[in-house]
Amino acid sequence: MLEALGAQPADALLGLIKLYNADPRPGKIDLGVGVYRTATGATPVFKAIKAAEARLIAVQDSKSYLGPEGDMGFVRALIPYVFGAGFDASRVEGMQAPGGTGAVRLAIEVAKRAGVRRVIMGTPSWPNHAQIIAAAGLELVTFRHGTAEGTADLDALKAALAEAGPGDAVLLHGCCHNPSGVDYTPAQWDEIAPMLVGRAVLPLIDLAYQGLGAGMEADAYGLRTVLAAVPEALVAYSCDKNFGLYRDRVGAFYAVTGDADALSRAMANGAAIARASWSMPPDHGAAAVRLVLDDAELTKEWLAELDDMRGRMREVRDRLAAAQQVGPIAMAPLGIQNGLFSMLPLSGEQIQALRADHAIYMAGSGRINIAGLTSTNIEPFIEALRAVTA
Ligand code: LMR
Repeated sequence: MLEALGAQPADALLGLIKLYNADPRPGKIDLGVGVYRTATGATPVFKAIKAAEARLIAVQDSKSYLGPEGDMGFVRALIPYVFGAGFDASRVEGMQAPGGTGAVRLAIEVAKRAGVRRVIMGTPSWPNHAQIIAAAGLELVTFRHGTAEGTADLDALKAALAEAGPGDAVLLHGCCHNPSGVDYTPAQWDEIAPMLVGRAVLPLIDLAYQGLGAGMEADAYGLRTVLAAVPEALVAYSCDKNFGLYRDRVGAFYAVTGDADALSRAMANGAAIARASWSMPPDHGAAAVRLVLDDAELTKEWLAELDDMRGRMREVRDRLAAAQQVGPIAMAPLGIQNGLFSMLPLSGEQIQALRADHAIYMAGSGRINIAGLTSTNIEPFIEALRAVTA
């Protein structure tokens, strides 16, 4: 039977991790998968998380099942950070999910059960978005996310929404757009929110990098502006980056609606999908986040660590932008983009040459992880870019 299986190419981004690890060259540079790195190239556990984990080991007296919705203390503790301190709690309910991927999967599957047949999404996008939409059997409708000048293309979103109607959802990145780093500005979000009003289009907001762009509050501006305008939406949230919990897989799925019955049905459907997929989410990382958010001192420490991360990425962006022009590449837009990622207009051959000749690893799309650049490798990186684009 198994011989009937078609060939399945490995996920390109995950394949890159293996290729990089196998490269013996000492000065190799990893700009691939989206993990934060310090100025010395490390991805340490947050101190606030370490402290919470120590506490967890001391106080946790059971690892018995919690249920498909996971740790609801974690899910609720995040709500003021995501939706704002004054958000009407009766409009929102959520459940834990295995990472941002699990949360997006739940959002897409719940949307499908609610009658969504097409997902409208700006491209390029995180490659897993399209994979999840396809795996759910939904149609993907694309529009251009960014302009040639490295800003967000609001007109393209407007045109896509003008064509949208019942059975459609629109997937928006809340902040730190992956892969481009090109976010809608607050003024653009102010225009987007009314565009969604009065349309039978379900907003799906993916917020996977809150705090890595302009700050915890500023990065929620788009989501909160949309939710102040529309009656309902689905939200996929990830703590993998802003709490540094990557492999612990910590995410949450939220439904927002003023209809209490619909809200409980969204959760019941989400729980059923979770049960048939992973049954119950992994607990450890979410429990650690809950302990951080339940403790004012640990929360302060976590937010300070997040500020440091953001500050370092801003410095790297400033240095890249200061290069102005590297061969044909205009570097200034990188300075105004947000989060871990930006895209460089490189050909497949140039990306291959960076890998083969300079031991620099990046996604095939030209996406670079800004945090992979350090004070020691940023100049060699810029020189390598100059060499392959000459
Ligand atoms: C990335 O885009 O590099 C991260 O979100 C990791 C992943 O799962 O793709």
